[in-house]
Amino acid sequence: MSEPGGDVRRTLVSARGVHVVAGRIPAVGSRFDVDEVEQLLGTDAATLGALDETRVASYLTARRWVRDIVTVRLRRAWSGFEATPRGVKPRLADSTLDVSIAHAGDRLVVGVVEHGRIGVDIELVASVFDQPSLARRLCTSAERRWADGLEPADRRAWLTQLWAVKESYAKALGAGLSLDFRRVDGAALRHRVAVRGVLTPASGASHAKIAVSWVDAAPSCSPSPVRAI
Ligand SMILES: CC(C)(COP(=O)(O)OP(=O)(O)OC[C@H]1O[C@@H](n2cnc3c(N)ncnc32)[C@H](O)[C@@H]1OP(=O)(O)O)[C@@H](O)C(=O)NCCC(=O)NCCS
Repeated sequence: MSEPGGDVRRTLVSARGVHVVAGRIPAVGSRFDVDEVEQLLGTDAATLGALDETRVASYLTARRWVRDIVTVRLRRAWSGFEATPRGVKPRLADSTLDVSIAHAGDRLVVGVVEHGRIGVDIELVASVFDQPSLARRLCTSAERRWADGLEPADRRAWLTQLWAVKESYAKALGAGLSLDFRRVDGAALRHRVAVRGVLTPASGASHAKIAVSWVDAAPSCSPSPVRAI
């Protein structure tokens, strides 16, 4: 599938009711006409006016990619999104499908599942992952010991991927960063009851890590004392 800007989105997963697409946000994505946006967003269209201008292209592109999965791949009707405040998992209107969205720089990942709940995340490998405070917030004690044994570049990449895995899980649950990542063993996550799968598909760019979590219909999230940053 290609966008008007010449960019290409890639299907990372399309099997067993899980559909994930990733790619670069097209430069022309911020142009839109009102009718198309109302059809795309449904009752969530009201959110657009409150968005920072720099986020509009990414916001709309994500929703277009979700709509394409729903209408083209799954051949379902489209009623837009429910109006949800920031910090709440996006929901499709009049649909049992579950969706998740992640942005990082000019990159975007969207996922749709036909059963259960999905969370996707994309993280850029960056120096923030070298900070000891981040590792303290992210890792179990065993994960910290493992990370400490890695060469700096490998450590950064490994922690980036670990963050993406845990954030995708948190987004599947709808908990966001209120989940205490220190209590989640990244490698054991896929064996948890109610976790159907954890995928780490190649992003197509060495500086970006992607993760997808697929869980049973999520329990309500329980915010932890760990603050979102
Ligand atoms: C959700 C959150 C993890 C996003 O992280 P981020 O690294 O800033 O951004 P990402 O690009 O990875 O994800 C952004 C997307 O997550 C989705 N999202 C927002 N809140 C979400 C939630 N609670 N659960 C799942 N997905 C959520 C949105 O679709 C958003 O994309 P949009 O702006 O196009 O709508 C983070 O903002 C957060 O934790 N917010 C607080 C949520 C919270 O504490 N809720 C309490 C519920 S108990």
